[in-house]
Amino acid sequence: MASAVYSPSTMLLLGVNIDHCATVRQARYREAPATVAQAVEPDPVTLAVLCERAGADGITIHLREDRRHIQERDVWRTRETISTRLNLEMACTPWMIDFALKLKPDSVCLVPESREEVTTEGGLNVVGQKEKIRACVDAMTAAGIVTSLFIDPDEAAIEASAAVRAPWVELHTGAYANAYYGSQRAAEFQRLRLGCVHAHDRGLVVNAGHGINYVNISEVRTLPHLHELNIGHSIISRALFTGIEEAVREMRARMNG
Ligand code: PXP
Repeated sequence: MASAVYSPSTMLLLGVNIDHCATVRQARYREAPATVAQAVEPDPVTLAVLCERAGADGITIHLREDRRHIQERDVWRTRETISTRLNLEMACTPWMIDFALKLKPDSVCLVPESREEVTTEGGLNVVGQKEKIRACVDAMTAAGIVTSLFIDPDEAAIEASAAVRAPWVELHTGAYANAYYGSQRAAEFQRLRLGCVHAHDRGLVVNAGHGINYVNISEVRTLPHLHELNIGHSIISRALFTGIEEAVREMRARMNG
C-alpha cells in the first residue's frame, strides 16, 4: 500500500504542518463553546487549502492528547476538504490508533508524547517499544495507511524502525537546527547525512522535519535520499508578514533550488 503514496521523485516534497495556526486560535478561543469555536479565526482548514494552492504536496496535523492546538473537528474537516495528502502525527496509543483507522489519513507519523516514549534527543523511542509500534504499523498497513516513525538519526533507531516494518521514517532535524549557529552544526549535519544513507540502505523512505527554516533549508536540502520535509513553525511565522501562499511558495523554491 505504501507504494500508492510514495513515488520516487527528484523533487523534494513539502508537507506543511498547520498546527500553529490552531495554536493562535486556541490562544484566544480555548474556552469558547463549540458553536462559537467553529466560526473563529484563524481557521487551520482554510490555511491548509491556501497551502495546497501555493504548491504544498501534503498537509500535516498533530492531534495531541492534550489538544493544545488541533482539535478533533479540525482533523475531520481537513480530511474532508484537502485534495493533497493528509499526514496525521499521533502518539502510539489505542485511542489514537482507533481514531486513525476511522479517519483513514494517507499516512500517520508516530511521535512521542509521554515521557517513556521520548528519547533524550526527542525522537520516538522505537527500541524500547518495538512490540507496541509493530502492532500499530501492521494495523495501519492493513488499512492502507502508510506509517512513518519520527526518530533520531541514529543507527539503533533506524534498525528498530526497519525491524517493526515501518515503510517510512522522519528524521528529527531538531538537534541540527538548534546547533545551527553553534560549534556542533557540522557534527549534527553529518549525523543526519549518515542517518539518511543508513535508512535508505535499509529500504526506508526518508523524510525529515522539525526546526527547518528559510536559512537552514539551503543545507538540509543537500541531504541524500530525502523524499519529503514537514515544516510548520517557520512557514506559519513568515506568513504573518507575507501571507501563507507566498510563505509556502518561497519555501518550496528554496527546497528545490
Ligand atoms: N515533524 C514532526 C514529527 C513534528 O512533531 C513537528 C513539530 O510539530 C514538525 C515536523 C514541524 O516542526 P516545525 O514546526 O519546527 O517546523
